[in-house]
Amino acid sequence: MKLVLASQNKKKLVEMNDILSHLGVEVCSEAEAGVDVEVEETGTTFEENSLLKAKAVMEASGLPAIADDSGLCVDCLNGAPGVYSARYGGEGLSDEQRCRLLLENMRGQMTRAAKFVSVITCCFPNGDVLTARGECPGTIAYAPMGESGFGYDPVFFVPELKRTFAQLSAGEKNAISHRGKALEAFKEKLEEYLG
Ligand code: IMP
Repeated sequence: MKLVLASQNKKKLVEMNDILSHLGVEVCSEAEAGVDVEVEETGTTFEENSLLKAKAVMEASGLPAIADDSGLCVDCLNGAPGVYSARYGGEGLSDEQRCRLLLENMRGQMTRAAKFVSVITCCFPNGDVLTARGECPGTIAYAPMGESGFGYDPVFFVPELKRTFAQLSAGEKNAISHRGKALEAFKEKLEEYLG
């Protein structure tokens, strides 16, 4: 079965295929499905934005579409950047600049608890919708560490492993990450749905 990923993020595509290929599911990009959908993420929750993206790509492609809406929620910033993680500090910033801005906004904060959240939504052309959520708790490091991954990976520290997400291999990250957990939950729902 083929699912179109409602995202331009190539790293998300790889992470999804790593996890869902075991089910005989292939996740392809919008480009491979011949669509290029610009979705305005107007929702205020991960659930709303995830549904907006999956529905728009399903409607444009006529194929089942899967979306991940994810972000980093920091306790001492009242859950920010949250659903605005990709746009934190404005559209023009690089991942590195966003990490630096986050550290700047947390300067002097001793309470550094945070979590990554991912909500996966899959919309089928017959109107059916499957949703799954995953969370990964951690803390925000005092300085970026590591080179792997993307986004806020260099500043997201996992106390149990004593490393940031950017210091983990793809396999190690998938095993504990918000997206890994959401995809595992989604995989179970999809297995049940497909019978
Ligand atoms: P989305 O593509 O609208 O869901 O935006 C998600 C944003 O949250 C990304 O652009 C990253 O900034 C951040 N994010 C989500 N998942 C991860 C992750 O696994 N590592 C690092 N940053 C992430």
